[in-house]
Amino acid sequence: SAAEKDGHDWFMRKEIFEQPRAVADSLLGRRTPEGHLHLDEMRLSDQELRDVDKVIIIACGTSFYAGMVAKYAIEHWTRVPVEVELASEFRYRDPILDYSTLVVAISQSGETADTLQAIRHARTQRSKVLAICNTNGSTIPRESDAVIYTHAGPEIGVASTKGFLTQLVACYLLALYLAQVKGTRYGDEIDEVMHQLEAMPDHIQRVLDDAASIYDMAEAHVDTRSVLFLGRHAGYPVALEGALKLKELAYIHAEGFAAGELKHGPIALVESGLPVLCVVPPAGRDQLRDKMVSGIQEVRARGARTICLVEDGDDHITPYADEIVRLPRVPVLLQPLVAVVPLQLFACQLATLMGHDVDQPRNLAKSVTVE
Ligand code: G6P
Repeated sequence: SAAEKDGHDWFMRKEIFEQPRAVADSLLGRRTPEGHLHLDEMRLSDQELRDVDKVIIIACGTSFYAGMVAKYAIEHWTRVPVEVELASEFRYRDPILDYSTLVVAISQSGETADTLQAIRHARTQRSKVLAICNTNGSTIPRESDAVIYTHAGPEIGVASTKGFLTQLVACYLLALYLAQVKGTRYGDEIDEVMHQLEAMPDHIQRVLDDAASIYDMAEAHVDTRSVLFLGRHAGYPVALEGALKLKELAYIHAEGFAAGELKHGPIALVESGLPVLCVVPPAGRDQLRDKMVSGIQEVRARGARTICLVEDGDDHITPYADEIVRLPRVPVLLQPLVAVVPLQLFACQLATLMGHDVDQPRNLAKSVTVE
């Protein structure tokens, strides 16, 4: 009923609008009065974490994209090498694992069979497994050595939204916690980053307050059959997630690319009128941002219609953007928390206008419990 959905038409839309709260809840109680990070169900000792010399993240679907962001964050703050692998591929390639490998399994439901089989394999190789999960007492956290629970609340829409944002939060917390325990030079930044994270619910709210402009944009694209998404750095997984949402909900062809790869193939797809959604890195990362700008010019010169997600106050893009979506100013590593929100709204609205069942897209299940 509408009441269960808080007056929204879909659970998914309700869940998108719950994201400021979900992110705030997932940050709650993570710091001691002395300002140290504290993770409730970490259960791995400081010594065990100091011994970690490699992290392998395994996940499926949207959770996999959270893992890609986690790689950037963990490597940046801890200097520990991180691999991200699709759970379904992991155990079949005879991965190199030992007691000093930390395997991080990211799963909203905690019941995904591919991910579960992957952690079982990792544990037979004596690796420690940490689960990032939204479902208390589900199978994956029960079979893991440690857990970071996200506090998104139940997610009912099949396509993950608040689950994803809170996974990102948990990944940042894990990265900072490892930095704290290992005493890396970024240890000093923990406090600053925690403050930046604590400001994110307000930033996300600002993006949501502007939903009407995204809905207008969706309206203009109801006849679109194909969309490309471009991103760089932490914006690359955002591009992949934006494309996945469109496939899942609107059933249209959508692909995400690392913007730097454009010239190595995908640019051949560009033709007149093709919408290309570009997640522009924040200013302050000018090299990245400038490379992105030239990618945008390239596709536009070939007739693409560019829709650019751009940080507030950055006017470099304006001449090359057919449409602009403004994002709050946040550090590059945290940008996925705000940048993915317009893409969720876009997919939800486009699918609604096309008459699709947003909460239960065809052929998909909330949790896939077969390999
Ligand atoms: C299914 C869902 C996706 C989800 C994926 C991983 O395919 O439809 O939305 O991202 O499973 O789910 P998990 O619960 O492991 O995060």
